[in-house]
Formats: sequence, C-alpha cells, structure tokens
Amino acid sequence: MMKFLQPLGALLVLLAGVSAKDETYDYIIVGGGTAGTALATRLSQGLPKSKILLIEAGPAAADELRINVPGLRGSILGTSYDWNFTTVPQTSLGGRSIDVNRGKVLGGSSAMNYLCYDRASAPEYDAWRELGNKGWGWDAMIEAMTKSENFTGSDNDRHGFTGPIRNYYNRVVYPVIRLWQPTVSKLGINVNDGNSMGGKPIGVMFQPTNIDETRHTRSYSASSYLPLAGRNLVVKTNTQVAKVNLVKRRGPGSVYQATGVTLSSGEIIAANKEVILSAGSVQSPGLLELSGVGQAAVLKAAGVNQLIDLPGVGENYQDHIRVSNTYRLKEGIDSFDPLIFDSAGANATGELAKWLNGEQSLYEYTTAAYGFMNWQQLGVDSQMKQLARKTFGRSTNPIDAKKLQHLDNPIVPAVEILYEANFVGAFGYTGGKFITLISTVMHPFARGSVHIDSQNPAADNNKPVIDPGYMSNAYDIQALVEAAKFARRIAHTEPMRLAWEIETEPGDEAVQTDEQWADFARKAMGSFYHPVGTCAMLPRGDGGVVDANLRVYGTSNLRVVDNSIIPVIPSAHIQTAAYGIAEIAAAKIIAQA
Ligand SMILES: Cc1cc2nc3c(=O)[nH]c(=O)nc-3n(C[C@H](O)[C@H](O)[C@H](O)COP(=O)(O)OP(=O)(O)OC[C@H]3O[C@@H](n4cnc5c(N)ncnc54)[C@H](O)[C@@H]3O)c2cc1C
Ligand SMILES: *[C@@H]1O[C@H](CO)[C@@H](O)[C@H](O)[C@H]1NC(C)=O
Ligand SMILES: *[C@@H]1O[C@H](CO)[C@@H](O)[C@H](O)[C@H]1NC(C)=O
Ligand SMILES: *[C@@H]1O[C@H](CO)[C@@H](O)[C@H](O)[C@H]1NC(C)=O
Repeated sequence: MMKFLQPLGALLVLLAGVSAKDETYDYIIVGGGTAGTALATRLSQGLPKSKILLIEAGPAAADELRINVPGLRGSILGTSYDWNFTTVPQTSLGGRSIDVNRGKVLGGSSAMNYLCYDRASAPEYDAWRELGNKGWGWDAMIEAMTKSENFTGSDNDRHGFTGPIRNYYNRVVYPVIRLWQPTVSKLGINVNDGNSMGGKPIGVMFQPTNIDETRHTRSYSASSYLPLAGRNLVVKTNTQVAKVNLVKRRGPGSVYQATGVTLSSGEIIAANKEVILSAGSVQSPGLLELSGVGQAAVLKAAGVNQLIDLPGVGENYQDHIRVSNTYRLKEGIDSFDPLIFDSAGANATGELAKWLNGEQSLYEYTTAAYGFMNWQQLGVDSQMKQLARKTFGRSTNPIDAKKLQHLDNPIVPAVEILYEANFVGAFGYTGGKFITLISTVMHPFARGSVHIDSQNPAADNNKPVIDPGYMSNAYDIQALVEAAKFARRIAHTEPMRLAWEIETEPGDEAVQTDEQWADFARKAMGSFYHPVGTCAMLPRGDGGVVDANLRVYGTSNLRVVDNSIIPVIPSAHIQTAAYGIAEIAAAKIIAQA
C-alpha cells in the first residue's frame, strides 16, 4: 500500500523515465517563457495533486552571465537564445525589415529584456473590461501584478513585497542621469518620483528595475518563479511543440477538446485536463493555426484543415515604435559606453570581475530615468487629436475607438521618453561617450498581423510572417516626429544642455523640418519589443480569440496565457503585464479545476 502513497514528485521522476508515448499529464503548458513559467509554478503550487508539464523550445541557462548580469542586457540579442524573427519589408519604411527579437530560453523574453519594470495607467487596464471582459481591469491587474512582485526599497508607491520577481531602484546611477528631473521639469512636466507604479505614470521620474538585491542578478521567471514550484511540475527544455491536438466533443454544438500536444519530433503527449499556450505574441497564434484554429484563407493556403473558424487569430498585432536622439558627451563626463563597446577592455573586465566577486559594479547599470507624457504636455494636443480623429474617427474597430478615448484622458500617456547613459542609436557606434533620448509612441494605431508561412507552415520552420504595418498611418508618423522633436527640446534645456557637445543622430543640421524628421524616423525606427494583441481577449464578434477566462473560442479546455491576449497595447514596458496575466490565469484555472 505504501508504494501508492509515495510523494507525487517521486512518481513523476518515474514517469519521466518511461517512453514518451505513455506520457500523460493533467495540464500541459506550451512555452516556458515569462508568463508560461510563472503559470506553471502557480499551478504546481495550487494543484499539488495534479501533474503539470512545461515545454520550452530553448535551453535552461541558469548560469549564463549574459542573462544574469544586468548591465549585459542586450547581449543575447541575435544569439542562439534569440528566435531572430524579422518583419516582412515594411512599405512605409521604404521596404526596411525590422528585427523581432524574442527569447528562446527558459524564461523566454524575461531572460532577454532590458529590465525596465513599470506599469501603465489605470484606465488602460480598465479598458480590457470595457471591451467586454468581465472581471478584468485595473483592480484585478494591480492585485495580480503586485502578487508577482517583491520590491526591496522604501517609498510610498504601489508595490508588492512577497512575490517572486524582485526589483528595486538601481543603486548605479551615472551623474549625467541625475540631470533628468531638473531638466525636463523646466519644460513644464511634473516630477513623479515614487508615485508612478499605482496607475498614474504621467510625469518624469526614476522607476525600478527587476534585479535581485541579494546577488544583483536579473530576476526573471526562470530564476525567480521556477524554484518555488513543487515536484509535480516537469519541465522539458529544448523541446518544440508542433501543434495542439483537438478532437470534436460528442453532443450538440461543435466544441473542440484539446487532448494534448504533438512535438516537432512527432511524439504525442496527452493532457487529461487542459492545454495552455504561452508561446508569446509571435508564436501562440501560429500554434493555433497549425492546430486548425484561425482564418480560413490562412489555413487553406498552408494546407491545414480548419477545425475552428476564428478570423482574429494572428490579427491585431500592435507594438511600440521608437526612435533615438543621440548626443556625444563633453570630455570628462562619464557614461556606460565603455562597458558595452569596449567589453574586452581593462575597465569592462575589471567591472565584470567586481560583479563576479559580489562587489558593487557598474555592470549593475540599467535604465533608471523615464518620462510618460500626454500631448497637452508636449503642446500639440489639438493637432494630434484632430489628426487621430481625421484618420480613425470613422473606424468601426473597438481598439481604434479605445485609443481615441485614451487620447482624451490626460492621465493616459501618449508618449514615453527614456533617458540612457550610453549610445542607443540606429546607425552604429563611432566611439566616444553618449547620452540617448529614446522616444516611443504609446498607442500607435497600426494594427498588423502574424501568420504561419503558407510556403512552409511547419512550426520548426520558425519563420512566421510578421507584418506590423509600422508607421502606416498619418498619426503614427506624426506622433513619432513630435516625440523626437520634444526629446531634442529636452536635450537643449539646461542642465542637460551643458553635458553634451553634439547631436550625432539625427543631427541638428540634417533634420529640422517635420518632413525631415519623418524621413529620419522611417530610416531609424525600431521596435520596442512589445508585440501584443495577436490572440486578443475580446468578444468573438470583435475579432476575439480568447474569452475572459482566456479560453480559445470553440474549445472547452484550450487557453492562451501570455501577452498576446492584451487587446490594446498599454503605455508601459509590459513584463509586469505578462506576470499579472499569468497570476490571474493561475487563479482561474485552480478555481475551475
Ligand atoms: C529585447 C527585448 C527587450 C525588452 N525589454 C523590456 C523591458 O525592459 N521591460 C519590460 O517590461 N518588457 C520588456 N520587453 C518585453 C517583455 O519582455 C515581453 O513582452 C514579455 O517577456 C513577453 O512574455 P510572454 O510570456 O508573452 O512571451 P515570452 O516570454 O517570449 O515566452 C514565450 C516562450 O515560448 C517559447 N516557445 C515559442 N514557441 C514554442 C514552441 N512551439 N514550443 C515550445 N516553446 C515555444 C519561447 O521559446 C519562449 O520561451 C522586452 C522584450 C524584448 C524581446
Ligand atoms: C540567431 O542568429 C544567430 C546569429 O546568426 C545564430 O547563431 C542563432 O543560432 C540564431 N538563433 C536561432 C534560434 O536560430
Ligand atoms: C524579498 O527579497 C529579499 C531580497 O531582496 C529577500 O530577502 C526576501 O526574502 C524576499 N521576500 C520574499 C517573500 O520572497
Ligand atoms: C571604470 O571606469 C570608471 C570611470 O569611467 C571608474 O569609476 C571605475 O572605477 C573603473 N573601473 C575599473 C575596474 O577600472
């Protein structure tokens, strides 16, 4: 008898040893990324009697310095930890393709991101409910986001203190970064230090970064959630899922049930209860399509038998667009550039040695200085609203309508400007020390798409057809132009003006008129790596893919839990949203188990 009462963990060690065709789990989560790893951990804690499987295409990389050292952020872009996607040539950018980086490693894009840790304004989360999703909104999301959070620091802002993801205000702040608030406030922007995490981000301030204070390492889903999981969670890395297996349920109606997944190797793994897609905004829609769920035309072209007609799959792709103004610093003013661009030099290796020895190191440096602004604060409120209404006032799309409403609410940011103590230009580093002002449009109206490649649809082809439609409308172009012009105004204001000698990108002389700025933006624009919306949580008739329980329409037990469900892009960096969505999903799945 004792044999059958052994702890479940031990049982699973046995199961992991049996041949794949016999494997069965209660819950299978596809994608061990930001949301997927958080969800798997919470299910394992909340459903201790259930067997849970987390499948990740990439490897585990617990000891990878390029992930763990905060100041090495960016260094795994374009490596084997990156899926290296690109967009199709963008018509409005003169045919340029834009990189779409995504983490291919346990932890997903939370292992790759730039450690900006913040939140959007409260009305933007409330918009999710207003679009038809009962139970969602700011109250639900702030509770969930703080549940995932352990802030170590002291201020009176809205933080969580007992969750897995650690964060604090960076202790490495270059003196040139301290010019931020004194400079921008001269242009009439309010200082909002210590008060931006509770749904009112408008203003200029320092914000936290997701670093673990005990070792000054990146705190991300694989390092901070996963160790909390029980032994009822099995993690398979270096394993790619090809599709979800769906069968039509008996009885009236045509509801499909997920019975498990098929791996790229052809192996089948069964799920007794649910399959959950957490493959992110670029790959969750493709997995649905390969499973027979999506637009008729897309599936037909790819030769996939359509089971569920869901035209919204892969549509509604939204992203933040950004452009940089770069300024070379005067002699004697310090920046982070040597640690990026001379990483083999004595200074960089010395600083890395300090980090490895547990001493305070410049390699702890991450973004500190943020500005979230509305158009009123930039002095172009009526022009920008008029332009948006002229272009989208007659649209019947609910996302467009919501963005028009956001423009009328002064607590909802229209623009973000980030201030960095290093070169982040588009045309290459040419030596020296820099500051960069990165201007980002918070609610571009462009809504693009991502679909499987009809010529080679297999999941392991890894070439989704991504068309974000960047800068494809008059509002998005002018918004980027106005934001970058304002960034130049900031740079020309003292005390910041006293720190630099020349604007190298775009260059004061080369770019002055709005047409010149727009032309520069087409050549220099990049993504802020925030694609959302491609499996939108919306009513089915509005292009929705999942309902308010994150269940895929037409299925009984297939959900999507990642940033693809966000219906309208929020005015923030969006890892906190991914964790919040995972926490809410876990609570729902546990309650419905
Ligand atoms: C370079 C970069 C910088 C960023 N900077 C910031 C920042 O500073 N602050 C911030 O808040 N946000 C930032 N973001 C955005 C944020 O990190 C992402 O929005 C968020 O991590 C996405 O979480 P997710 O769970 O939706 O997807 P992901 O974390 O991308 O997870 C998807 C996972 O699914 C796996 N997968 C995909 N297909 C399959 C398959 N078929 N089988 C098995 N596994 C599969 C992938 O390998 C991946 O691990 C950044 C993103 C990037 C890429
Ligand atoms: C991404 O590109 C780099 C450089 O070409 C390559 O080494 C890496 O393997 C690629 N990643 C994937 C997942 O193929
Ligand atoms: C929060 O993080 C600190 C280290 O920064 C740690 O000492 C503490 O135990 C953490 N709290 C929880 C509940 O995990
Ligand atoms: C690296 O350079 C900075 C100044 O730019 C200095 O403060 C720091 O001590 C140097 N570190 C090492 C290890 O030389």
